[in-house]
Amino acid sequence: MSNFVSVARDGGVAVVTIDNPPVNALSFHVREPLMHALVWLRDEPGVAAIVIACAGRTFVAGADITEFGKPVQQPDLRAIIAVLETVAKPTVAAIHGTALGGGLELALGCHFRVADAAAKLGLPEVKLGLLPGGGGTVRLPRLVGALKALSMIVSGTPIGAAEALAAGLVDAVFEGGLTAQAVGFASEMVDKGGSFTPVRGRDGRLDQAELPEFDTQVGELAKKARGLEAPIACAQSVRNAITLPFKEALAAERELFAKLVAGDQSRAQRHLFFAEREAAKVGAKDIVRRKIARVGVIGAGTMGGGIAMAFANGGFPVTLLETTQEALQRGLATIEKNYAVSVARGSLSEDTKRQRLDLFKGSTDYGDLADCDLIVEAVFEEMAVKKDVFGRLDAVAKPGAILATNTSYLDVNEIAASTSRPQDVLGLHFFSPANVMKLLEIVRAEKTAPDALATVVELARRIGKVPVVVGVCHGFVGNRMLAARGSESEALLLEGATPQQIDQVFTDFGWPMGPFQMGDLAGLDIGWRNRKARGQTAIIADTLCEQGHFGQKTGSGFYRYENGSRTPAPNPQVEALIRDKAAENGIAPRAIGAEEIIERTLYPMINEGAKILEEKIAARASDIDIVWVNGYGFPVGKGGPMFWAGLEGVDKIIGRLDHWHERTGKDVFKPAPLLRQVAETGAWEGATSQTA
Ligand code: 3HC
Ligand code: NAI
Repeated sequence: MSNFVSVARDGGVAVVTIDNPPVNALSFHVREPLMHALVWLRDEPGVAAIVIACAGRTFVAGADITEFGKPVQQPDLRAIIAVLETVAKPTVAAIHGTALGGGLELALGCHFRVADAAAKLGLPEVKLGLLPGGGGTVRLPRLVGALKALSMIVSGTPIGAAEALAAGLVDAVFEGGLTAQAVGFASEMVDKGGSFTPVRGRDGRLDQAELPEFDTQVGELAKKARGLEAPIACAQSVRNAITLPFKEALAAERELFAKLVAGDQSRAQRHLFFAEREAAKVGAKDIVRRKIARVGVIGAGTMGGGIAMAFANGGFPVTLLETTQEALQRGLATIEKNYAVSVARGSLSEDTKRQRLDLFKGSTDYGDLADCDLIVEAVFEEMAVKKDVFGRLDAVAKPGAILATNTSYLDVNEIAASTSRPQDVLGLHFFSPANVMKLLEIVRAEKTAPDALATVVELARRIGKVPVVVGVCHGFVGNRMLAARGSESEALLLEGATPQQIDQVFTDFGWPMGPFQMGDLAGLDIGWRNRKARGQTAIIADTLCEQGHFGQKTGSGFYRYENGSRTPAPNPQVEALIRDKAAENGIAPRAIGAEEIIERTLYPMINEGAKILEEKIAARASDIDIVWVNGYGFPVGKGGPMFWAGLEGVDKIIGRLDHWHERTGKDVFKPAPLLRQVAETGAWEGATSQTA
């Protein structure tokens, strides 16, 4: 019929195959022939049943996201599903790989769904700032009930075939030979005879009695939504499925979808979807990646333990090295405890925990790292210690092994130069806790070999991390921009703001926490040590550290944490300290508004981001967005700092930076030349290439 949709006959069953690599998205060039095929087969007397299947690695993974924001070309997905529902003969979706978003909605337009045992089914639109716009919110509850539909649609997390079968979403699960099995299933349905009710007509699982529980769950959800519109719209639309007739609920879904798709939040989240994939495209496709079978980790402290777990969770055997047996046993015990907590929470089975622990081998002998293909160092943040470790590694590591440092700030070129193989050295900057946080800054040093770089980018994806390649500078991308934000947060305290007030502005903006809550959580001593090494000061934070207040781990920092509580409570001692230090420095406190807090903390970050682009420390503005969303909790609905700069208005940002620069003379406010170029061109990318 077309290159993208073909029809084959198997007895009385017509098999429609969609073939639109890589993920069979429902682009216009698929929808048009699909519509023709369905109309033709519906009216073709010789056809007794229709199976919809897909070629390649997956069933339809959704609408074509690249078409959003452009005028809709008919037929749209809803029109196709409407036609499917007029077919009087059995229709069966044969699902392998992933049936996501519009893909699952297409399947919900069929009378039946059969799935490969390894298939996953879900409606992930919420992650793009959307709700399912092809009837998913009103059809899914008809099969699985409103509560299950709410959890699937609001989380966006796909479920496996077995769970889908148990929930009533699929009618049969098969191991292998899916299309043939689907044809067999369709023939059975033909033999059964009678009429078949489309999903839209099945109201049995819609239960008004569930409404109170439903509303309680939505109330909880609203508290956690942090200003995101999509989860709330998803919930509203599923609720409509219970309270409104099908047609009205469908129309309401459409209205909500149209509003979301045109909004800034969805634009921001779609930007992040493509940015994440762009960031992972490193090195030519034909570069031969190095083989990584065993990973070594040096240092079993906070980071080393988490990094070792991250690799074990990805299935890699890990050799963990420490200086003493005592430190090693302590590190291994922490790892075991962390897995035990996951078992207790129900997120890990006892069996999996055992399998993971079996992957660890502890050692205090560098010779044991000789069979590792990648070795990640996470020892103390001191150049002399790092060089000592890399010197030893140079002596024992096998030729071609990749040697990585997890340093937060130190010069990776200098570390690499201390070995005889700088081409094999790079930075792998994990974020704490390393087994949980998704971001991985991959630091390309001057002499890092392209195949070593490409290998770790691919490896990062395999262990579920989001990799971003960055260049060498103090703090790389994330911590360097954080420093620009941090110095002004301190200054604001002395000028009259409180930690609570500043943190509140951040949480109102959509961050999970503000700079002072984050400092307390990470440990104030980390920044303190770093400042001391660089001869810098932060009056309030330094004083707190000198007094032994490191944040949550010592029970006090900018906030108080009484009796092991993790909830920050205002700290009157800190407020008194701020007043004293302000007086000492001759600063008269004044009232500071939310707008000023934003301008003086977030604008310098964007300015620093522009400098990072000028220096080619990051390849693209969107890479910076990925760093901030995945490593520091920048609100996804704002797309990362550089995307948000566009929403806020680069002109406005420059104007206010100029203002603060004039007033304070501080470098963080001096607008980067690139920022001025962006104001003229309207885009980071064009402006970036001009500076190239
Ligand atoms: N539309 C357009 N392009 C898509 C796409 C989509 N729905 N899904 C994936 N792609 C592209 C990616 O951008 C990537 O392109 P590239 O190679 O040029 O970078 C390529 O397909 C491969 O994608 P991945 O690298 O992500 O491949 P994986 O194998 O790792 O993952 C996947 C496959 C799980 C299907 C993943 O791509 C995914 O989650 N896709 C998005 C699914 C989704 O969000 N669907 C809902 C869309 S919205 C919708 O349907 C609205 C409807 O309700 C009306
Ligand atoms: P840590 O103090 O918790 O752990 C360091 C471990 O290294 C200790 O267990 C120590 O015994 C061991 N060690 C020291 N010298 C060693 C050697 N020569 N051989 C083997 N083991 C040795 O420190 P943390 O926080 O884990 O930091 C480690 C590295 O990770 C530092 O470079 C730090 O800058 C970086 N980092 C830290 C982050 C954090 O949030 N803590 C985040 C990202 C990076």
